[in-house]
Amino acid sequence: EQVENKPVRVWCDGCYDMVHFGHANSLRQAKALGHYLVVGIHTDEEITKHKGPPVFTAEERSKMVKAIKWVDEVVEGAPYITTLETLDQYNCDFCVHGDDITVTADGVDTYHLVKKANRYKEVKRTEGISTTDVLDRMLCMTRQHFYKGDKEYEVEKEHSSVMGQDKAARSPWTGCSQFLPTTKKIIQFSEGIEPKPTDKVVYVAGAFDMFHVGHLDFLEKARQHGNFLIVGLHTDPVVNQYKGRNFPIMNLHERVLSVLACKYVSEVVIGAPYSVTADLMKHFNVDVVCHGQTPVKMDINGEDPFAVPKLMNKFVIVDSGNKMTTDLLFERILIKRMEF
Ligand code: CTP
Ligand code: C5P
Repeated sequence: EQVENKPVRVWCDGCYDMVHFGHANSLRQAKALGHYLVVGIHTDEEITKHKGPPVFTAEERSKMVKAIKWVDEVVEGAPYITTLETLDQYNCDFCVHGDDITVTADGVDTYHLVKKANRYKEVKRTEGISTTDVLDRMLCMTRQHFYKGDKEYEVEKEHSSVMGQDKAARSPWTGCSQFLPTTKKIIQFSEGIEPKPTDKVVYVAGAFDMFHVGHLDFLEKARQHGNFLIVGLHTDPVVNQYKGRNFPIMNLHERVLSVLACKYVSEVVIGAPYSVTADLMKHFNVDVVCHGQTPVKMDINGEDPFAVPKLMNKFVIVDSGNKMTTDLLFERILIKRMEF
């Protein structure tokens, strides 16, 4: 039984390959059932055996989970079937999992031991998002390109005057998402804090599509330039305009949640203008604007989107030290798929 005042330690485990806001939401709910959250990550070998090869390495998967703001500790190499010994080793009172059945390659419920010992709790799985779903969206996109040969998929271009003001804030390409964003979900994910007058405000902007380790390393470095990090997310039409093809894979609302789940992020601008304006700098009291080493596409008028902060001497290029991009992610996925 619970000793009074003893913090409740919660255990979660999983593959956490291509971490998405569904994972983050389950960890958020798990944390809410106690005080301290330990997350176990399965090895590449075990995932390959039971589910097929993961896209990300154990190191990358673990880094992504560690950066989710509700996670206190990460344990690499957690067994696929959760054992009582594991819970005891990390002093965890119980294990939490989404309300879907997870089985081994032989069809054994991976939580049968903790369920029998009454050390298992369930949270609601987030509808409309899964790794399989994200993979399908990506593969669907490449297939379309493949069949079209070298003919680039043409998307009607919008004028910059309507950039960031799209009514539905989503492109036709992300329309397939079944996830229904609500203000409640955004509130649950957000910090709800304002910068203190003494805080140094850092602003970054981008697509942050398929939020990956490259983005994460970038945000960590950007955050080091101050102590309040605001991330501006471009709308789907704007992202499509500069990324081309069928990008983005994830719609604005999904990208908002993925970024909000990151512990380095203080606030998100939902549908930020492509170019960093003087108004924006003033409104958010921005001290420094950061961008990574990826190439910067000029705006629709052929102008540098960072011209204003550069003029103000408030622009810094940061080195994320990570070469991951959405295109590289594609390559990895295609290679992994061929391994099946
Ligand atoms: N999870 C969730 N909602 C989702 C996806 C996952 O709540 N939309 C939860 C799972 O229930 C589990 C945890 O995230 O508790 C870790 O899941 P993981 O082992 O990584 O894999 P899956 O459940 O297979 O997730 P996905 O289908 O997205 O790979
Ligand atoms: O491409 P996207 O708009 O999502 O990038 C958001 C920010 O992350 C940009 O500043 C980009 O330079 C940075 N980034 C990075 N390292 C990566 C991937 C992205 O610094 N590997």
